[in-house]
Order: sequence, then structure tokens, then C-alpha cells
Amino acid sequence: MASTLSAQHLIARAREAALKAYAPYSKFSVGCAIESVDGEIVTGANMENACYRLGICAEISALTAARQAFGLDKVARIAVAGGHVASGALAGNDPVTPCGGCRQAIYEAADLSGLDIEVISANGDGTRQIASTIRQLLPHGFGPASLKDAG
Ligand code: THU
Repeated sequence: MASTLSAQHLIARAREAALKAYAPYSKFSVGCAIESVDGEIVTGANMENACYRLGICAEISALTAARQAFGLDKVARIAVAGGHVASGALAGNDPVTPCGGCRQAIYEAADLSGLDIEVISANGDGTRQIASTIRQLLPHGFGPASLKDAG
């Protein structure tokens, strides 16, 4: 598996993507950058809606792009960063870890490939990070392989 890029570079791409979030309601911009096993990168950001519950998270946005670019089974590494936009840059103190629903979506990709996808959570400032794997974030998850006893 190629992990050609530094974690800091992937975080920078996630922070940059957050600048294109559409988050007028929460004012919490989240960006996500996904690296493939071959070193390709796609990004996404959260996109909210006046019907609040229809908003989508940055991770789902980026996973959709990953599906188009290289396939879910080639997802190797994911960086997430969130906070508020100040003077044209993402800012914020606390690293953003994926919500439960996004963990489930990342788990689906991990189950397809058998790779324990690395998830890097960064703060808006890009100065703090927490590295985990999807299996650490979602232990005993339910995925495609869990359906093998279906009729
Ligand atoms: N959000 C994400 O994009 N990803 C997460 O993992 C956590 C939350 C977004 C959803 C909503 O637009 C805003 O952050 C506030 O919850």
C-alpha cells in the first residue's frame, strides 16, 4: 500500500476542503480528504440544508467522490478537520472525529477491502491530530460480511 503523503499533507487537503463547506446553519465547517492505496486523493465537505436533517457530512461527501475516483475498496487513509472559517482559513482547537454514521460508512469501505482504514482527526488550526483506525473507532461493527447468514 502506498502511503506516499505525510499525514500533515492530507490534513492540509482536508482543511482546504472545509473552506468549501456549505454550513450556514451550524457554522461548523468540516473537510475530509481520502487517500487511495495508490496515493490518489479526493476531498469533500459538509453540505447543510434548510431542512436541517438532510445535511450531509464531509466524510460522506468525500466517500462519494472516492467511489467515483477509485472505488471504496481502495480507500486507505482519511483525514478530517473541522471548525470555523476565520480570515479565509479553517480555525478551531479540538480535533474532529467522525460521527457515528460516518464511522459506519467508513466501516463499509474497510469491510470491502479488508483494510483497517486509518482515520486522522485534526483540529481546525491543523495543529493537533488524533490517529485511529476505523476498527478502533467502531469495534464489533456491522458490515457487508455480517450479512453472510442472510437467506
Ligand atoms: N459534521 C461532519 O461533516 N462530519 C462529522 O463527522 C461530524 C459533523 C458536520 C455535520 C454538520 O453539518 C456540522 O458538522 C455540525 O454538526
